[in-house]
Formats: sequence, C-alpha cells, structure tokens
Amino acid sequence: MRVCHGEIARWMEPLGAQVRIDAAGNFRGVYPALQPNAPRLMIGSHLDTVPNAGAYDGILGVVLAIGLLQELRGRRLPFAIEVVGFSEEEGVRFGTPFIGSRALVGRLDQQLLGVQDARGISVRNAIEDFGLKIDQLSQAELARDTLGYLEFHIEQGPVLEKLNLPLSAVEATVGQSRLEFTFLGRANHAGTTPMHLRCDAIAGAAEWITTVEREALKVPGLVATVGKIEAKPGATNVIAGEARLALDVRHSTDETRLRAVENLIRQAREVAARRGLSVRESTLLSQHAVAMDPFLIAEIEKAIVKTGCQSHRMASGAGHDAMILAEKVPSAMIFLRTPGGISHDPAESVAREDVEKAIECGLHLLDQLASSPEFYKRKNLA
Ligand code: GLV
Ligand code: MN
Ligand code: MN
Repeated sequence: MRVCHGEIARWMEPLGAQVRIDAAGNFRGVYPALQPNAPRLMIGSHLDTVPNAGAYDGILGVVLAIGLLQELRGRRLPFAIEVVGFSEEEGVRFGTPFIGSRALVGRLDQQLLGVQDARGISVRNAIEDFGLKIDQLSQAELARDTLGYLEFHIEQGPVLEKLNLPLSAVEATVGQSRLEFTFLGRANHAGTTPMHLRCDAIAGAAEWITTVEREALKVPGLVATVGKIEAKPGATNVIAGEARLALDVRHSTDETRLRAVENLIRQAREVAARRGLSVRESTLLSQHAVAMDPFLIAEIEKAIVKTGCQSHRMASGAGHDAMILAEKVPSAMIFLRTPGGISHDPAESVAREDVEKAIECGLHLLDQLASSPEFYKRKNLA
C-alpha cells in the first residue's frame, strides 16, 4: 500500500496537487480550484483488493480520477477536485468492509478500531503499525466544503456487456450483511469413532451451506454466499471440532435481506441442534441499501449521452465506498462495462475504449457541474 501511495503521489504532484495520507490510511490529493477557498468535488475509489484479485476493482476508479485531472491539461475549475484512494474497502483483513471510507464520515469508531484480524492485530494497531496516528482520525473526515463524491468503477457483472453499452449511471447500491458463524462439535479420531457417535463440525457446516443456497434460491433477487470456511484442528484423520464460516447476504430491499439473515441463523441453529453441535454467530456488517443522488445521476446520464453513448441507469450488487460517503455528501457512480462480467478474479478486465469513454464522460460532467448553480447548493452534512 505504501508503494502504491508513493506511485500515485508521483502522478498527482506534477499536476499541482497537494497529497497526504490520512490517519485511516486513505490517499488524499487535492487539485486546486481557480480561486483559493473554493468548495471541492471528491472523486475516487479504493486501492485495496481481494485475494487473487483482478487489476481493476477499485484502483481503476483512482487511476481514472487522476487521468481526468491530466486531461484537464492544467485547466482549473471553480471547484477543487480531491482525489481519494480508500484503504480497506473489501473487508478482507478484518472481515468488516469500508474501514477507510467510514473514517471520512466519522464512523471509524472505538468498536471498529477494536476489530481484530486473523493474527489478533486490531484495526487500531494496524493503523499505528503503518505509522499513522489514531488521535488524528478526525483530520480524515470529509472537508466541510465537499459538494459531492463521484466514483468510477467497473460494473463487475454482465449487464452492460449484454446491453452493448460502455457506461452506466448507478442509481443505488444494494444492502449487504456479513456474518461469521462458528459450528462447534467434538474433535476425535477419524478411524475409531463410529459414524453415529460423532459431533462433526464440518459436516454440520456443510449441511447448513447447502441450506443457505437452497433458501436464497427461493427469494427473488436475493444472493447469499458462504465464501470462506476454516476448520480446526484441520487434519485428514481428525473429525473437525470447529468450523468457522463467513456468510454474505445481499438484496435491494433491506427488509428482505434482514428477514433472510434471520432465517439463515435459525436454520444454522436447527442443523446444529439436530447434530449435537452448537453454533454461534456474530454480525460484522449490516449495511442498508443506498440510493445515489438524483441530481448527479441525471448529470451523469447527460454526460454519457454527450459521449455519443446511450444513457442507462442500474443498481449495483457490489458494495462501494459511495454508499458510505452518501451518508454525508451527494454521491454518485459511473460503471464501466466488465468483459465477461468477471470480477474478483485475475481474469477481470476492462476495454481501453471504454476507459477513454469514461474519461470523456467525466470531462463533460466536470464542465456541466462547473456551470450548474444547482451543484453549488449541494449540502455536506458532515
Ligand atoms: C466489494 O467488492 C463487495 O461488494 O463485496
Ligand atoms: Mn471488490
Ligand atoms: Mn470495488
């Protein structure tokens, strides 16, 4: 991350930008406005990624923001542009996503600072180990004069490719829950313990995983995933005494998502009880669905049309920092078509022409906003 920060700082500084790393490990670079003390527009995405990832989820949005500034070719606007490269959006290390962006809205709280990674290192310690100061977290918060947040991101799904469209405005991002389940049984010898006398934590977890899939299939639009499982003690000839699983549940309607989570917890308890196991769960995230800002959506659609493309709006099934920023500032996103709809995988890609279209669209959008009285009325609730 440090190398990455250094690299993008090297791209931004020659444009006249002031760069810093805030106390939550987010990259921040401010491209000045025509006049001092002008308000600002924030543009960015996240710099972290998932294990065995592709090259574009997140980082494309940061690179694109810098590309936009380069394409301004020294031109300044009536507002400054703050480029942000968020840390810890995916939630890989601590199980909880959006840690960097939560700092901008003042929600990197004591509880979140205490969350630990697999090695027992807390968010607080990780921040300090990186050389940052917890007592300066308030300096990571959004500047009061922030008029909006804009995020370019790959779609990460097949919709735009199917429609043969390079770009789309995002109208909303779906809500998501993340939970950790631990099934506890009794570790024992795999050769000497008869099948009917076992308390096998992995077998119980496996039964519940197929229940998750079956239950999710019953609810239109619901997605539920067990993407991670760890068992202890973890040997071929030992019945597992413990199985720990990560559950991810998403739906555009919060009520449906919460009902599904309750149902899956109940099912886990039933499976465990029937098998003589115990199960406990903890909720790491319950993020409600978030609508993007209607004014910015409309402006994005106009800008897309100006690039010669058909305008389109769609919901995002993936989570984004824009969901968090939207709590405090008008926020919006632009999706780029994702070849094959593949993401969170090394095969993830993006077409060069689509990136060029996105930059062209971004330049139109900046000009539209620069001359829109409505834009300057935008309120930062920070
Ligand atoms: C982020 O990629 C998420 O939607 O989990
Ligand atoms: Mn991702
Ligand atoms: Mn992402």
